[in-house]
Amino acid sequence: MDLRGRDFLRTGDFSTEELELILKRASQMKLAHKKSQPSHQYLAGKSIAMLFQKPSTRTRLSFDVGINQLGGHPIYLNWGDLQLGRGETINDTGKIFGCYVDGIVARVYRHADLESLAASSPVPVINALSDEFHPCQALSDCFTIIEKKGRLDGLKIAFVGDGGCNVSQSLAEAVLQLGGSMVIASPKRYSPREELISELRKLAKGGAALQITEDPVEAVRDADVIYTDVWVSMGTESEAEDRLRELHPYQVNKELLAISAPESIVMHCLPAHRGEEITNEVIDGPRSVVWEQAENRLHVQKSIMSFVL
Ligand code: CP
Ligand code: NVA
Repeated sequence: MDLRGRDFLRTGDFSTEELELILKRASQMKLAHKKSQPSHQYLAGKSIAMLFQKPSTRTRLSFDVGINQLGGHPIYLNWGDLQLGRGETINDTGKIFGCYVDGIVARVYRHADLESLAASSPVPVINALSDEFHPCQALSDCFTIIEKKGRLDGLKIAFVGDGGCNVSQSLAEAVLQLGGSMVIASPKRYSPREELISELRKLAKGGAALQITEDPVEAVRDADVIYTDVWVSMGTESEAEDRLRELHPYQVNKELLAISAPESIVMHCLPAHRGEEITNEVIDGPRSVVWEQAENRLHVQKSIMSFVL
């Protein structure tokens, strides 16, 4: 299977088999990393632009380190420092990038901007988060679930909180494609758009189901994985007061955790707002896998880059 030249904007653009292939190589890369073996130099001689319109800790660092480990040269670019910040179009910028670099990793507000960048630039674009999707996070999270549970098929993954956020939507997409069932619990106005829900259901593998509910208790009952994310995502700060009030009943705390399956794990993409969407005792507790989740970003993103770049 040759994935060279493909954009990685959402997992839904890739087949289940292609995602499984990426996960398989990620696993080999992690094993080699643990044995301190050097990575295969998939990006030798290549320059990769890392264009960021929003802040980032994990994504920026793990891509930078990952590109270096694969022998490539990362170039971090803050959106506001480019002519983009002074009105140069995304299409013109995309063409220019194509003159100099071999790939683009981009974090943006509008998903449509990422699509324009991908359409105008001759080199592959990897989505490092948009308002709609966070596919590198989601595929890494599936990797972590499989590592912890041995499989995704037949598992129940519950996302509790801001169900219409990038992390929730991408997680649902990737989990369903890989055969897991997904439940999203959030107030109605924070659930994914209807058209997206239908799209995601069409991508589901085998008997995998997507359920949308307003009831966090129903969502986590017998769940194998409980996942949450911040209530105020980047770009929604003006709605902070309403969000904090309306999402309060969706906090992941020890009472909610007690309803889930006995061996359930707790996930969070980070950064966490401790005391809001998740309590200290849960995120620091024995069921939490958040630090391994963060580490796995490195291995899975290296695998993605090794295929598409
Ligand atoms: N999870 C994640 O993408 O974190 P950053 O915003 O720090 O990159
Ligand atoms: N939903 C969060 C994810 C951060 C990694 C945000 O967009 O701010």
